[in-house]
Amino acid sequence: MTSLFDLTDETVLVTGGAGLIGSAICDAIDAHGGTVVVADLDGEGGRALDSAARVVETDVTDEADVQTAVDVTVEEFGGLDVLVNAAYPRNDRYGRRYEDVAIDDWRDNVDRHLAGCYVPTYYATREMVDSGGGSVVNFGSIYGVQAPDFTVYEGTDMTSPVEYAATKGGIINLTRYLASYLGPAGVRVNAVSPGGVFDDQDEQFVDAYERRTPMGRMATPEDVAGAVVYLASDAASYVTGQNLVVDGGWTIS
Ligand SMILES: NC(=O)c1ccc[n+]([C@@H]2O[C@H](COP(=O)([O-])OP(=O)(O)OC[C@H]3O[C@@H](n4cnc5c(N)ncnc54)[C@H](O)[C@@H]3O)[C@@H](O)[C@H]2O)c1
Repeated sequence: MTSLFDLTDETVLVTGGAGLIGSAICDAIDAHGGTVVVADLDGEGGRALDSAARVVETDVTDEADVQTAVDVTVEEFGGLDVLVNAAYPRNDRYGRRYEDVAIDDWRDNVDRHLAGCYVPTYYATREMVDSGGGSVVNFGSIYGVQAPDFTVYEGTDMTSPVEYAATKGGIINLTRYLASYLGPAGVRVNAVSPGGVFDDQDEQFVDAYERRTPMGRMATPEDVAGAVVYLASDAASYVTGQNLVVDGGWTIS
């Protein structure tokens, strides 16, 4: 019997495929038989992945770039079945504390992040509707469903940026809108909302984060990739508009 999680014959466009989580997603999709096309600003990072069948250097906020990535996918691989929006666009002033964020930067970063999800979704779902269906996996965050616990950043230079709350909350509800609108066309739209992924952050932060998390550890990129495979595959054939939280229990307490 074929596994419900099998992605053979599925062509999957992964934005941000060269990133921390994106590269684990590419590997997991490839391991389940899917064909991976990476759309990332970082073409070199994408080309370093054995799991990427094709890399299209793309700015996901740019319509022409995104159209090219979708066209290349369809022309070279015969269709586009799944879009994973794992890019994380932000400007170089992103990450400051609330009182230090200039309004123009707030506008710019909210726009980049939302457009970086919306533009690929718009062009990919046009293709999916024409071909009879497909699946989109967006990226929310625990901080798209609840307020940050700022105590975990105490004693470090880190924070959770204010733009993040606005964009992640927006992406989760955009997911519901699109699932409702595109359901009749056979396009499923879901989100994955990870908790903090370990990336050699400040030790004090990691300790505090782990103490606050029921499972006692931060996420790995692979923890998150499993949820994406599930939502992309037939195992989730009747699942749409959902936000799958992958956080070791962070949001339950
Ligand atoms: N890392 C975490 O702890 C965490 C937690 C919750 C949610 N998330 C979400 O997961 C997603 C992936 O995060 P990550 O940690 O892998 O980020 P990352 O910074 O490691 O990777 C992001 C990737 O996006 C690419 N990118 C940035 N701007 C782009 C643009 N304009 N066009 C095309 N590509 C662009 C980068 O080149 C990079 O490869 C994001 O939506 C992020 O908000 C991450």
